Amino acid sequence: MKIAFVGKGGSGKTTLSSLFVRHLAATESPVVAVDADINQHLGAALGLTEAEAGALPAMGAHLPLIKEYLRGSNPRISSAETMIKTTPPGEGSRLLRVREENPVYEACARTVRLDAGEIRLMATGPFTEADLGVACYHSKVGAVELCLNHLVDGADEYVVVDMTAGSDSFASGMFTRFDMTFLVAEPTRKGVSVYRQYKEYARDFGVALKVVGNKVQGPDDLDFLREEVGEDLLVTVGHSDWVRAMEKGRPPRFDLLEPENHEALRTLRTAADASYRNRDWERYTSQMVHFHLRNAESWGNEKTGADLAAQVDPGFVLGEPTVAGNAH
Ligand SMILES: Nc1ncnc2c1ncn2[C@@H]1O[C@H](COP(=O)(O)OP(=O)(O)O)[C@@H](O)[C@H]1O
Ligand SMILES: [Mg+2]
Repeated sequence: MKIAFVGKGGSGKTTLSSLFVRHLAATESPVVAVDADINQHLGAALGLTEAEAGALPAMGAHLPLIKEYLRGSNPRISSAETMIKTTPPGEGSRLLRVREENPVYEACARTVRLDAGEIRLMATGPFTEADLGVACYHSKVGAVELCLNHLVDGADEYVVVDMTAGSDSFASGMFTRFDMTFLVAEPTRKGVSVYRQYKEYARDFGVALKVVGNKVQGPDDLDFLREEVGEDLLVTVGHSDWVRAMEKGRPPRFDLLEPENHEALRTLRTAADASYRNRDWERYTSQMVHFHLRNAESWGNEKTGADLAAQVDPGFVLGEPTVAGNAH
């Protein structure tokens, strides 16, 4: 399943993503963690040294390789150059799986050993001014979106994306790519306003969105979030001394995380697992087509000089291949 942590800068997306990844790894679940946050800190939060985190390959830099691999022998995609971040897979495309070796992982993923278990980590690479501008096709997050759209994931395997809740994820279809989106919010007006904006975009696309209150200090904080967020409030996390120790570069063993925070992580997992059971591969595929057509028209056709709508394979549904040979 695919899970995103979003929220405003400083809310605790990276912290909670990393804790959730550690939780999953501790139960020996296969995990691909993806750092798509503007500030690339997930590696450090998973215990990498500055040098190790700095040496992570950047997905953005490997975009040509990613496109070339995923395109495979799909006759509707004439070249990697005409492939944009929303180009959907079709007959002949290569699909990705959580548990496999492939050239995309080889180029872009690194194994991170945690005190309990190990995971794969991928990172978009640091963002520049150009990435954050209006020209959304420069987006490094596009590499992540392409991979998610070509990824066939099962119930017991996890892709966890640490992601900024920026306009970029709305312009593309990125925000619709997850079985569960955890919006991390501090009990502040700003934290809650990011939630409202996200909810507004999410409404028309059936996005499963739950709020994780972070840095919640007492009954006042909890009341505030309950009032502002209502039923979407899934769980709250308080200040964690374990997290603070980790920030000092001295992470205690993960099983020493505060029991209430272990419990919060179990709640997140239960919610994500339940949401995956509603996965509708046809809807998942038709949403990527929807956003692709939108992008084709607004900038993609012009940029590539091709008719990108013709890349859509009308009979294709992402999913495990059946005996009959149809994807589903
Ligand atoms: N529950 C928590 N307990 C203690 N410190 C926290 C907690 N959540 C976040 N922090 C700290 O707050 C800062 C911002 O968190 P971070 O996860 O980097 O935010 P984001 O990724 O949303 O920008 C970090 O220094 C982090 O260690
Ligand atoms: Mg962050």
